[in-house]
Amino acid sequence: MTIVDAFNYVDGCLYAEGVSCEQIAREHGTPTFVYSRAAIESRYLALDRALDGTPHRICYAVKANSNLAVLDVLARLGAGFDIVSSGELQRVIAAGGDASKVVFSGVGKRADEITEALQAGVTCFNIESAEELGVLADCARVAGVRAHMALRVNPNVDAQTHPYISTGLKGSKFGVAIEDALALYLQAAAIPCLQVVGVACHIGSQLTDPSPMLDALQRVLALVGELKTHGVNIAHIDMGGGFGIRYQNETPHSPTQFAQQLALGLGGRELELLLEPGRSIVGEAGVLLTRVIHTKHNSARSFLIADAAMNDLIRPALYQGWHPLRRVHEASDQAAQTWDLVGPVCESADFLALQRTLPAASGDLLALECCGAYSFVMSSNYNSRPRAAEVMVDGGQLHLVRAREQIADLFATERCLPH
Ligand code: LLP
Repeated sequence: MTIVDAFNYVDGCLYAEGVSCEQIAREHGTPTFVYSRAAIESRYLALDRALDGTPHRICYAVKANSNLAVLDVLARLGAGFDIVSSGELQRVIAAGGDASKVVFSGVGKRADEITEALQAGVTCFNIESAEELGVLADCARVAGVRAHMALRVNPNVDAQTHPYISTGLKGSKFGVAIEDALALYLQAAAIPCLQVVGVACHIGSQLTDPSPMLDALQRVLALVGELKTHGVNIAHIDMGGGFGIRYQNETPHSPTQFAQQLALGLGGRELELLLEPGRSIVGEAGVLLTRVIHTKHNSARSFLIADAAMNDLIRPALYQGWHPLRRVHEASDQAAQTWDLVGPVCESADFLALQRTLPAASGDLLALECCGAYSFVMSSNYNSRPRAAEVMVDGGQLHLVRAREQIADLFATERCLPH
């Protein structure tokens, strides 16, 4: 299965599949997120095919990009979904996703969210604490159903990624320490309205090397063996997501390689393998189009002040995230200079790209790449800025999949005190 690289220059202009970014900016303005259907589909299908011969389910992590069009494209390929809130569940259902292929993850599920998910028929709850286990049991009892569950265990391995997106170490708020899991599983197995079906684990995001995940797998398999000796049979193991992509000069193993190594690690055991990839499915399938409003120079730096800002893309400010920056029209009559690409927001952390050398002038259209994951979903209205439009390209067709927010929308539900 070939991975589709959807963003390429044609006659000096950046295209998304068969549509030019110039046309997108003209029709929908900037800032705008542009997604490629083919890029998303090819990544999903490559991972799915890599696991041919291993019983598996790919549950796309909705948090990475929850636009209904993205969910719909994946649902049509038969994907399952990994959700962390009632909001994500409702999006999956609105997009035509199948609740019986949904796993419910997250460290703080409220009772009302659990009940809603039980009623929708979610396939598995990944439970993260003893207290949450009790709440699941109570909700299932009241609803008169048997809740399928896994414990999310924390295997205490170092995912070797940015500390903010590393989740598998002892000090992390995530999961149940693997040493405590057996006792909690035995407790769960004795509760009639719970059915233990799996073990779940997610050690972090943007992993480039599979070894920490393979270590975690071995620890999980040891637990599965121990559970068996206690009469608790596990049907699936969920190794989470975390497959890294290339933003700058990382050289990640491909998701296909990760998946094949995990399948090998199962060593022929009769266990279904669940995966929850987010970034590796959509990250490279999106760009953020932005236009330069002004240029500005001081004694130390030169700035391109763009119409996109940290409220549209917070990854650079929050994680020192580095996104490739390209001109939409390759040619320019300017000489190349070193610029900081910044937004109009009143924060020094409002930068999108630092110290990049390119020719640029006011009015130029630029594209920040690898903005399909954790980009629009993390955007905000800070500085009362309406959130960007989202479009999806499908071959030569351009579809608006989320209209740009209107300023009136921002305060439509606010009220002044009575006079
Ligand atoms: N499963 C669980 C339980 C997770 O917590 C996550 C991500 C995933 C799956 C999907 O991981 P992925 O395949 O996308 O790496 N905002 C950060 C990333 C946060 C990841 C949170 N959890 C960023 O922009 O880098």
